[in-house]
Order: sequence, then structure tokens, then C-alpha cells
Amino acid sequence: MSFFPAKTVNSDIFGKLLKSDGFFIDREAMRPSYMPNILPHREEQINELATILVPALRGETPSNVFMYGKTGTGKTIVTKYVGEELLKKGEEVGKHVNFVYINCEVVDTQYRLLQNIANHFINEWSERIPFTGWPTDEVFAKLQKMIDKNGGVTVIILDEIDKLKGDEALYNLSRVNTQLSKAKVSIVGISNDLKFTEFLDPRVKSSLGEENLIFPPYDASQLQDILKQRVKIALKPHSIDDDVIPLCSALAAQEHGDARRALDLLRMAAEIADRQGLIKVTKKFVRIAQNKIELDRINEVVRTLPTQSKLILLAILLQEEHDKKSNSPSTMTTGEVYEIYKDLCKKTRTDSLTQRRIADLISELDMLGIITARVISKGRYGRTREIKLSNPSDELFDIVKEDPVYGELSNYKVRSQTRLL
Ligand SMILES: Nc1ncnc2c1ncn2[C@@H]1O[C@H](COP(=O)(O)OP(=O)(O)O)[C@@H](O)[C@H]1O
Ligand SMILES: [Mg+2]
Repeated sequence: MSFFPAKTVNSDIFGKLLKSDGFFIDREAMRPSYMPNILPHREEQINELATILVPALRGETPSNVFMYGKTGTGKTIVTKYVGEELLKKGEEVGKHVNFVYINCEVVDTQYRLLQNIANHFINEWSERIPFTGWPTDEVFAKLQKMIDKNGGVTVIILDEIDKLKGDEALYNLSRVNTQLSKAKVSIVGISNDLKFTEFLDPRVKSSLGEENLIFPPYDASQLQDILKQRVKIALKPHSIDDDVIPLCSALAAQEHGDARRALDLLRMAAEIADRQGLIKVTKKFVRIAQNKIELDRINEVVRTLPTQSKLILLAILLQEEHDKKSNSPSTMTTGEVYEIYKDLCKKTRTDSLTQRRIADLISELDMLGIITARVISKGRYGRTREIKLSNPSDELFDIVKEDPVYGELSNYKVRSQTRLL
């Protein structure tokens, strides 16, 4: 007998999945990387940026620009949109323009920034800048030469500019024009962080901020327009209930007018409904998507907590697990959490903090939305806090276990003296 069962009519799983794509016409259109033809409610920013950059098409140097606005307000997409138009027009009118886009969250050191910009000007004859090894001023001198040899006007976009480590490269770049004989350069810096420029070298600050462009948050009705446009391209007609777009938009508007959040909610809701083989996306799936996003956020926050906070969380998780087994309701006081925490510190040979300090860290976990710590009155015994997890999550356990400190605790059990059972 063969180890594999004979093929039945149910085979060709992929064939079937490929043919029917649920209610999606074009899944990609719901993704953050998709570039729509029109960007609703950003006409003003597009026009302003284009007005600032148009000198490039006359061979002149555009002013530098600093753009800011919260995440998901369309800064990146507007910039790329205008960049594409600039290159198209440049070709059409026979003007030599370059558009260099760098995400400083990815390229975050001075050296790599200069090297990445240089990569745009490399041809088969030019010498490459190695990944490491050259002194920065040599890299910079080389880059200058490459830009000048290439000629024309270059617009350099530094997206997430606040993520760049140090501002020496910014200083050099902002005065590069004084050292070029043929070519011209202008810089567009983008940030979510309003305070970013306050900490810059004043010369960089004034140079970068020759022009400022603000991206206000979208309101709920603007988000609806953005979503409607995508739904038309991405989904088959009548595949979502009428109240789905308003709900996604309202939730994302609460978040701070974040178009990325609105799109994520809609895409995830559609994907979940689709996987269940349903014919319509309803409000229920938006709620499920919202919960999933919130859980993902909490997991991410937990992953980056300092070890002491992870130990506190572990104490709460262990107690909760224990209570679950004995079917008792799971809330605990600061004192109870502290006892388990101290025990965990002993086992892991970690210095334990005072109960006062632990109370502060518990408040912090509360503020981050990981636990709820409600103050309750115990009559004449004063006040205490009732602590419990905001979301029951097995994943949290797994994340805490990733911390090296957990290695020593793998067989740990809450002992009876740490809390009355
Ligand atoms: N006006 C708009 N029209 C269509 N899609 C938009 C618009 N603004 C933002 N988006 C979409 O929302 C998401 C976030 O926009 P993005 O430009 O990355 O925001 P930011 O850079 O400000 O954080 C992207 O997927 C983008 O396609
Ligand atoms: Mg962006």
C-alpha cells in the first residue's frame, strides 16, 4: 500500500484557489505599496510640492523642503507620486532630473546614506563606494564628484529623516550645492516627529526648512473617500456591506486620521471574511480585524519591554494561568504580583526592585494597554489595585519566554506561599 493516499477529486487545491479569488479583483490595490492614479484630499500638498520642485524642470535648484505630519497622512505616497510626475515631465521636456528616494529607517547611518545616494549615479565605468571602510569625507567627496559628473538637477528624498543617526551627513548634504560646479541638488526631508528639527544643528535646520509642508490628519469622511476609491479597484461589486467603510474610517479617524490604519482594517476584514468563504464583508469582520491589530500592537510593545517589566508581566501571566486551572477569577493586587515577582528575581538571580518601583512599572503596563490596574477601595484597609491582563493571550507568554532571563525559569511554578490558593 502506498504511503500517500490515492488522489481524489479534491486534489488540485491550488488550481481551485487560483481560479476563484473570493471577492478580490486586485488584492494588490489594498496594499500600502499600491499607487492609485488619484490621491483624494491631497491636491493641495501635491500642488505645493510640485510648485516647489518645478524649478528642477528649468534646470534651476528647487528650495529644500521639510514635510511633516502623523503616520498615515500620505507623506510618502504624495512624495512618490510627485516624483514620478517630475521624472515623466523631465523626459517629456528633455530636462535632466534625478529623483532619489531613501527611507532612513532602513538606511540609518551617515555612511550608508551617502553610499546609497551614490548608488543612483553609478554607471559601468564608475568606481563603487564599498560597504564600509572609507572615511566619511572621502565618501562625500566621491559622491560630489559623481553627482557633478552626472549633471542635471537631483531631488533627494529623505523619508523618516528623524531615524538617521547623527546630523553630519545632513549638514554636508545641505551645503553640497556650494561645492558642485555643474549639477544641482535639493533635499526633501520627511518626518512624523514635529520636534525633530528642534534638535538639529541650526544651520541644517534653516537649510532644510526653506519650505515647510504640513500634512494634517484625515477626518472620517476623507478616509471614506480614500477607501471607496480602493474598494472600486480591489473588490468585486457588492462584496461589502454599506456600513463597513464608515466603520473602518471612523476607527482610523479616532486613531489620528491614519489612512494606513483604515486600509489595514478594510483589507484584513476582507481577507478574514474571504478565508471563511463568505460572500460579503460585514461590520463583524472589521471588529475582528481591529482586535487583531490591537493584539499585534500589544505583542510588539511586550517584545521591547525591559527585563524588569517582563518579569512583572510574567508574574501576572503565571498567576493567571494558575487561577485558570483552579477555576478562580483572575485578578490580583500589587502586593501579590510583587511576591511572585520577587520569587522570579531570586530564581533568575536578578536584582529585585522595591514595591514602590514595581507599582510604577505596573502603572506603565496599564498605560501601554497590556494590563488593566483598577484602583479599588478596601474600606478601612485603604486602597489597592486590581490587576488583570487586558487581553487573554497565549502569545504573550511565548513572547516573554523569548527573553533570555526566561531560560532559568522554564520549570517554574507559582508556589503556594506566594499567594493563597
Ligand atoms: N490621499 C490618499 N489617497 C489614497 N491613498 C492614500 C492617501 N493617503 C494615504 N494613502 C494610503 O495610506 C497609506 C499610508 O500613506 P503614507 O503615504 O505611507 O503615509 P505616511 O508616509 O504619512 O505615513 C498608504 O498605503 C497610502 O497608499
Ligand atoms: Mg511614510
